[in-house]
Amino acid sequence: MEKVQNIVILTGAGVSAESGIDTFRDGGGLWEQHRVEDVATPEAFARDPDLVLRFYDLRRAAIQTKEPNAAHRALARLDAEWPGELTIVTQNVDDLHERAGAKRLIHMHGEHLNAWCTACDARTSWTGPLFDRPACPACGAGGTLRPDIVWFGEMPYRMDEIYHALNRADLFVSIGTSGAVYPAAGFVREARQSGALTLELNMEPSQGSYWFAEARHGPATRLVPEWVEEVLGG
Ligand code: APR
Repeated sequence: MEKVQNIVILTGAGVSAESGIDTFRDGGGLWEQHRVEDVATPEAFARDPDLVLRFYDLRRAAIQTKEPNAAHRALARLDAEWPGELTIVTQNVDDLHERAGAKRLIHMHGEHLNAWCTACDARTSWTGPLFDRPACPACGAGGTLRPDIVWFGEMPYRMDEIYHALNRADLFVSIGTSGAVYPAAGFVREARQSGALTLELNMEPSQGSYWFAEARHGPATRLVPEWVEEVLGG
């Protein structure tokens, strides 16, 4: 790995699967018996806020019962030991990367453990329910807190930082994502245009596998520690 200085890693639901958090498109792709369109869009929230708030209250509570796995821990080790630039871009809205110790982390699709006030725009760390319409801790408004989740049709967070990192990358590694949702699914092409090496670590070939110079298939808890050992040892 002598010529690799700057690494960008993209993670998806597959990196949290072995922690017991369901992925989105395995096993029928229903989210707790809901179609994505019925819960993960601004229109769904406007149409039935109780349904959407209750759905996210369940998921916010569920992730707090889960633990990081060996893949999260290996990425945190890389974060701590890698001397060059490193950006871990996650599509996941759980906090398992953080709890494993990752620091150089971007949540492009938001976070379950934040609440977002639609009145004052403040984001507040939040572990409880939103269904009972608690007041915004920042501005005191009632009934204005929503999940801090990027819904379909909304702009993912910190895209400028992500594209800046991709343009500087020598190595792009995609872990546990189906390559089904943009803009994340296009990151591999951005990285290739910058001349980066590209590697996919996934249970099975993703929809974007074609674009990767190398792909390894299997569980993240085996593939990620092995790869991190190579990169740090190599
Ligand atoms: N190890 C490695 N990969 C795994 C594992 C595992 N244990 N289990 C599942 N996978 C792979 C699956 O093969 C699949 O390719 O993880 C991928 C999960 O794909 P999705 O369920 O589509 O999740 P993701 O790619 O993160 O979805 C992207 O879509 O619904 C939106 O906003 C949501 O962030 C999400 C985005």
